[in-house]
Amino acid sequence: MRHLMSPMDFTPEELDRLFDLAENIKDFPAKYAHACDGRILATCFYEPSTRTRLSFEAAMTRLGGRVIGFSDAASSSAAKGESVSDTIRVISAYADICAMRHPKEGAPMVAASRSGIPVINAGDGGHQHPTQTLADLMTIRSLHGKLGNFTIGLCGDLKFGRTVHSLISALVRYEGIRFIFISPEELRVPDYITSMLTEKGIPYEEVIRLENVMPQLDMLYMTRVQKERFFNEEDYVRLKDFYILDTTKLALARPDMLVLHPLPRVNEISVEVDDDPRAAYFKQVEYGMYVRMALILTLLGIEV
Ligand code: CP
Repeated sequence: MRHLMSPMDFTPEELDRLFDLAENIKDFPAKYAHACDGRILATCFYEPSTRTRLSFEAAMTRLGGRVIGFSDAASSSAAKGESVSDTIRVISAYADICAMRHPKEGAPMVAASRSGIPVINAGDGGHQHPTQTLADLMTIRSLHGKLGNFTIGLCGDLKFGRTVHSLISALVRYEGIRFIFISPEELRVPDYITSMLTEKGIPYEEVIRLENVMPQLDMLYMTRVQKERFFNEEDYVRLKDFYILDTTKLALARPDMLVLHPLPRVNEISVEVDDDPRAAYFKQVEYGMYVRMALILTLLGIEV
């Protein structure tokens, strides 16, 4: 039995096969419409979500399976004090596969260690968000043409943004990646990540002004400031609008630079940018569903 806790759980070759499968599902959906007949996905979300939960539910439904679950810890027996370990043992009796989001780092790993079914980490605190990374990588592969040999700017809340941490850990396995981290001092990427990059000899720089580095970027990965992870409102209010990508700033970028964002967006990308052909964040959403369909099939060992 296999779980997905981190994007590193799949080799780059396995990821390529997963993305090929996702592309095939996208092009020939009818072929997969009954692939999961009789199977059940449990979505156990202890934290809010729109994309991840609903794309998992859409993915399983489009594969012919069914979905059970909860979208709020308060409506589950976690509110009565039930542990994640006990909950997953119960869910294992009801479902064939589980996607779990939890505010505590490591909670889905604890669940996986006690589970009788494959568990997918759908985001754990400020730690990892591997299925968002699958969506990000597939978007880059499809729109940029290859995974490797590019300069990526990651901008915003690099301290608490779990999608950033997952994406960096996945990208270091590809050739010729250069990172530019763009953040205020307080929201810098964690030291364990910069130490890992230094150890591996992967080039990176840390800057504060987005405008200064924009012309160098092949892609720009914007993130929102993670309000829910701040300890005080005052700091959040001070930092939340530190970066706003608008058409004036985008004019400094290369004509083929991709603008990525895991969403939800708050203020960090002006809506006027949505009409620019370089804006790829709603395509990321679509790829996210197809790659989750491919992931469900892969973890359940279903071949079509
Ligand atoms: N990108 C992402 O994880 O969005 P949700 O929080 O809406 O699932």
